[in-house]
Amino acid sequence: MTGDTEVPARVRRALARASELGFPGVCEEPVGPLLATLAAAVPPEGRILELGTGTGVGTAWLAEGLGQRGDVRLETVEVDESLAAAVRADDWPPYVTVHTGDAETLLPTLGRFDLIFADAVAGKWTGLDLTIDALAPGGLLVVDDMELGRYTDPQHRAAVLRVERSLADDPRLVVARIPAGTGLIIGTRRPDRRPSRSRYS
Ligand SMILES: C[S@@+](CC[C@H](N)C(=O)[O-])C[C@H]1O[C@@H](n2cnc3c(N)ncnc32)[C@H](O)[C@@H]1O
Repeated sequence: MTGDTEVPARVRRALARASELGFPGVCEEPVGPLLATLAAAVPPEGRILELGTGTGVGTAWLAEGLGQRGDVRLETVEVDESLAAAVRADDWPPYVTVHTGDAETLLPTLGRFDLIFADAVAGKWTGLDLTIDALAPGGLLVVDDMELGRYTDPQHRAAVLRVERSLADDPRLVVARIPAGTGLIIGTRRPDRRPSRSRYS
């Protein structure tokens, strides 16, 4: 668990924004420190994408993982203009870009990423394929809110099962289910196929 003293200042500001704005959807532990850890592993010239900025909690954890690095880009997409503006007004490193727009519309235009946190309706509950398309070979996808036991609404339960099945069945991915927090699934995109050549010929 992350104690209060271990929560980075930028994350605390994003949490304070959520309180001020009455925003209920911030990412829950252990997603934040996990995002920071995975961001730190993104290679030089790499790219990170978050779908659904909210008040910037996930963005802040990702930036925490990158620290002073200037060789990785961090982009986040938020459909709500006022949320995007509130996040943009904070003090971010120059490698952070907050896009305003619908994730499914923007996804095909943004290129490929080494790490994607899919945390919006679009690109997760719908349009998941577009998100997987946007993963670079070897890229990591993080999806939360996958713990079925948290939901009673039959439609929401069906949506969780659909996302889980889509990820597990996608031949481009290797996935792990991590029963922590709101329920995590992490997927790695396999390298793109090359023409097959036997090692022994
Ligand atoms: C669960 S919250 C994101 C929380 C944030 N990632 C965090 O770590 O605290 C989901 C966010 O997705 C945004 N959203 C919903 N539909 C969207 C869409 N079609 N495109 C982009 N963002 C969307 C919502 O406005 C909301 O801010």
